[in-house]
Amino acid sequence: VSFWEHGGVPDVDYHSDDIAERYAEQRSLRDDVLQRWQAAVRPYLPHRRPLRVLDLGAGTGIFTRAWARWYESQVIALEPSSAMRTQLRAGGLPDVAQIVAGRGEHLPLRPGTVHVAWLSTVLHHLEDPMSAAQDLARVLTAAGVVLIRGLWSDCGAPVGLGFFPNADRALAAFPSTERSVDVFRQQGYAFVDSVEVEDQGPRTIGQAIRRVHRLRGADSLLASFTQDEINQGLSAMGHLDPETPLPPSTVGLLVLQRCT
Ligand SMILES: C[S@@+](CC[C@H](N)C(=O)[O-])C[C@H]1O[C@@H](n2cnc3c(N)ncnc32)[C@H](O)[C@@H]1O
Repeated sequence: VSFWEHGGVPDVDYHSDDIAERYAEQRSLRDDVLQRWQAAVRPYLPHRRPLRVLDLGAGTGIFTRAWARWYESQVIALEPSSAMRTQLRAGGLPDVAQIVAGRGEHLPLRPGTVHVAWLSTVLHHLEDPMSAAQDLARVLTAAGVVLIRGLWSDCGAPVGLGFFPNADRALAAFPSTERSVDVFRQQGYAFVDSVEVEDQGPRTIGQAIRRVHRLRGADSLLASFTQDEINQGLSAMGHLDPETPLPPSTVGLLVLQRCT
């Protein structure tokens, strides 16, 4: 039984070498998108340098490398899947970063050592978000922050979703910001902010079609649709000129602070 309302999103098998390779190939983010995220997080960062950042569920290290470039920091890339850790290493590990095998629910870290916990598209994968919020409170410094990037049922707009039947159901499988804030509040955090950031969605119908073909199986939102729904969506998009422009996609950023 999922922790979240509506059953939660289907599991993506990040332990498979194939998924990890596909993720590394397809999910990189352009520099302009990463710069937008750097600007988005800046107002919430503690002033301490070097910043000790925990990249929780670091995956292939997209943001491990970004944090190392963005700010004077020491980054811990925590990742349970050895297949994802292999891709992270292959993509280049910055000198200021180290990889740690582990899960968000049992952090192998000392108390009061992390200034910023960064959770990018990982909250919906945690088996026990309440335990993760509790253990994060242990390892964060006083007034440390938790920055959560992702899609919520009520924040963030993946473009092209409307072409698929039952898109509302697929989106509702993601946690809501309200419930997420509630989980963290129960573990002694204060809500700071919730914003939407322009991200890297497809900009034309042709790009959207190619993205669905490439990422089906390695993306939680796409995995929330049945094959029949995917086929219907692809067929609806296939009737349009592939150069038809699409509006920008946004992804949500939720900011919480550990209460001192
Ligand atoms: C969608 S990927 C996101 C990777 C990376 N944060 C990014 O934004 O590209 C989700 C990652 O969370 C990891 N994960 C799954 N369950 C986890 C848990 N309980 N604790 C920590 N990480 C977990 C998966 O292995 C996977 O690498």
